[in-house]
Amino acid sequence: MNILILGSGGREHALAWKISQSPECNQLFVAPGNAGTSELATNLPELGNHFDEHGKAQIADFIRKHDIHLLVIGPEAPLVAGITDYLKEQEDLKHLAILGPGKEGAALEGSKDFAKAFMQRHSIPTASSQTFTKNTIEKGVSFLRSRALPIVLKADGLAAGKGVIISPTYEEAEYSLKEMLLEERFGSASQKVVIEDYLPGIELSVFVLTDGKDSIMLPEAKDYKRIGEKDSGPNTGGMGAVSPVPFADDAFITKVKERIVKPTILGLQKENIDYRGFIFIGLMNVKGDPYVIEYNVRMGDPETQVVIPRIENDLLPVLLVAAQQKLKTAQIQVSKDVATTVVMVSGGYPDAYEKGKLVSGLGNVKDAKVFHAGTKAEGNQVLTNGGRVIAVTGKGKRIEEALQNSYQAVQQISWEGVYYRKDIGQDLLNL
Ligand code: AMP
Ligand code: GLY
Repeated sequence: MNILILGSGGREHALAWKISQSPECNQLFVAPGNAGTSELATNLPELGNHFDEHGKAQIADFIRKHDIHLLVIGPEAPLVAGITDYLKEQEDLKHLAILGPGKEGAALEGSKDFAKAFMQRHSIPTASSQTFTKNTIEKGVSFLRSRALPIVLKADGLAAGKGVIISPTYEEAEYSLKEMLLEERFGSASQKVVIEDYLPGIELSVFVLTDGKDSIMLPEAKDYKRIGEKDSGPNTGGMGAVSPVPFADDAFITKVKERIVKPTILGLQKENIDYRGFIFIGLMNVKGDPYVIEYNVRMGDPETQVVIPRIENDLLPVLLVAAQQKLKTAQIQVSKDVATTVVMVSGGYPDAYEKGKLVSGLGNVKDAKVFHAGTKAEGNQVLTNGGRVIAVTGKGKRIEEALQNSYQAVQQISWEGVYYRKDIGQDLLNL
């Protein structure tokens, strides 16, 4: 079958890498793709950059012309923009299997207010919260002053992972609330602000593949969000990841399934939301009990780069049946090995950075898998083309061995200004 993947990050390279190994995979396209995906698929640099009506129509045309059977949507932007609904409305594309929810389901990520209300409706454990707008700002101030410190403020809409502020004082929280609502600090994303209690604990990401009725849990992972070592400095898209996570033992995962995954899927059904795709649940482990911090309606990046390499069987038929609402009979086999990934970024990221730097040493990598993110092929050369450039995944029987394989490969690769964290996984070594 012919397959189209939307996206251009490390997540999409990892998905393309896995899908391309399937005997069922005929032609594989990635729109727009990166230098890594160009080695195993056909990149479509002009497609998948815009999701207005014109951008959606271009994607539909491509699907028609190239007889695409399965569409896998990597990032949240096309989902929130309603690409799935648009394609489902095309009479001549009824045969297309689409992995990724429509606009309604995507609101679980696209609107934190919707996600919180959904969790409240279905008794899914999460921090207590209330939502405020410009018109209710004074109530927002009294609400936050009535809660314990620190207090968490979240822009309602998509803000590239930057819309969350954790304030240690009421004064700072009040200032941030006003800045978000009155000055639209995160653009239209902060027209509504969710104020919620701070949850103390260790974070964990779990991934579910669902067809809206049945679901499969994929391996869990831990992400390293801050730019600096020991989790310092500003948030990024993710600087590294580890899977499995030692504290996510069977007892904890059972609680996650019973208290969070089951009621989430049932809640979607009760609300008549046709959800076929991944659900990425950001959790806080608070003294052994899971609480939802956020839903994402896609896989994580760089978590995918450690989750996918641990899946041993052919994933393509599983993705297909999820998109066709026939997931019930599907299974995955997960390796007991540990996978770690270290993200190499452009100097200056997550603030301003330069692109177009020559990446060298890729050919010297042994015992690790390089997943490209912000890269671009130019002739035989690979150039940097984004903030997060490459994720290097190592595997091993133990986390130490996986990290050694990742870091040995990282040391082979360089470009002007390259930066990476040297402490990925260190916090998990002595658990
Ligand atoms: P989010 O964009 O919702 O993933 O939030 C970004 C980060 O803020 C999360 O990864 C957490 O580290 C932190 N965070 C968000 N909500 C809370 C909360 N209620 N309590 C503690 N930390 C939080
Ligand atoms: N690594 C976090 C995310 O993909 O949102």
